[in-house]
Amino acid sequence: MKKDLLTIRDLDRDEISGLIDRGLEIKRDGRSTQRPLSGYSLGLMFDKTSTRTRVSFEAAMGRLGGQTLFLSRGDTQMSRDETVKDTAMVLSRYLDVLAMRTYSQETVEEMAQWAAIPVINALTDQYHPCQILSDLVTIKEKKGTLNDLKMAWIGDGNNVAHSWINAAKVLKFELVLACPAGYYPLPEVLKGSGENIKLVEDPAEAARDAHVINTDVWISMGQDAEKKQRLLDFQGFQVNESLVALGRPDVIVMHCLPAHRGEEISAEVIDGPHSVVFDQAENKMHLHQALLEKLLIKG
Ligand code: CP
Ligand code: NVA
Repeated sequence: MKKDLLTIRDLDRDEISGLIDRGLEIKRDGRSTQRPLSGYSLGLMFDKTSTRTRVSFEAAMGRLGGQTLFLSRGDTQMSRDETVKDTAMVLSRYLDVLAMRTYSQETVEEMAQWAAIPVINALTDQYHPCQILSDLVTIKEKKGTLNDLKMAWIGDGNNVAHSWINAAKVLKFELVLACPAGYYPLPEVLKGSGENIKLVEDPAEAARDAHVINTDVWISMGQDAEKKQRLLDFQGFQVNESLVALGRPDVIVMHCLPAHRGEEISAEVIDGPHSVVFDQAENKMHLHQALLEKLLIKG
């Protein structure tokens, strides 16, 4: 049976650990002459812009010997009201796997429901599971383990934060999220959180003694109309040198990128010694390679 990745909850603890370790192995081994996905096709259907997710999936598929087809919505008949169902059924006849970036989580769920091929959520308004999987690769690479670490999330309770919460539910690591009032993660995502997941309003409380400090933009794709209000409401939530100084001496600072220096993160921090953001970006490619292998070959 095909397997989709629509949220982190589609994977169990062993599957996540397996993907992380395989991602690290692929990185360590470097380029391979093996082309296990020769003849396979990955569709990338994106309704929102992307630099890293698109290019890292294309590069990963290329390294595995397969091809990718980039499908922006405007170029497909979905822009002229062809249904998700018909699109899913047709694309399943041509492609072997489809990664989709769109607004509503329901759209990727509907696509997965009708597609005979694996569907990967490449970001929705609600979740960004691939991001967190590759971020866990980076944390394991830097810290050697995912156990006994305090992870801090500073900023918006958004799609990336939601996927962090899902990962903490499955892997049980300590996650402290500091979000301004009105920007908490959705109640349905927080529901069922154990004691390892804490929500606070003070960024210092989250950052104190953290092994990992993570942030993301204050204005996500699709929220541009709220920009003025958000810039006001997020004051005090910038990841800057004084906040990072509260973390452990070897704290790593992560950001899924794209970043806005001077808003959610200061230039000194993102370009400074604690930042791992460019290794983090690279690791998306290694993780995507591991994920494509799992969905198409290993199961
Ligand atoms: N981190 C991430 O998903 O980046 P892109 O929006 O550039 O794909
Ligand atoms: N929260 C951001 C993540 C970008 C990778 C957004 O949705 O725009």
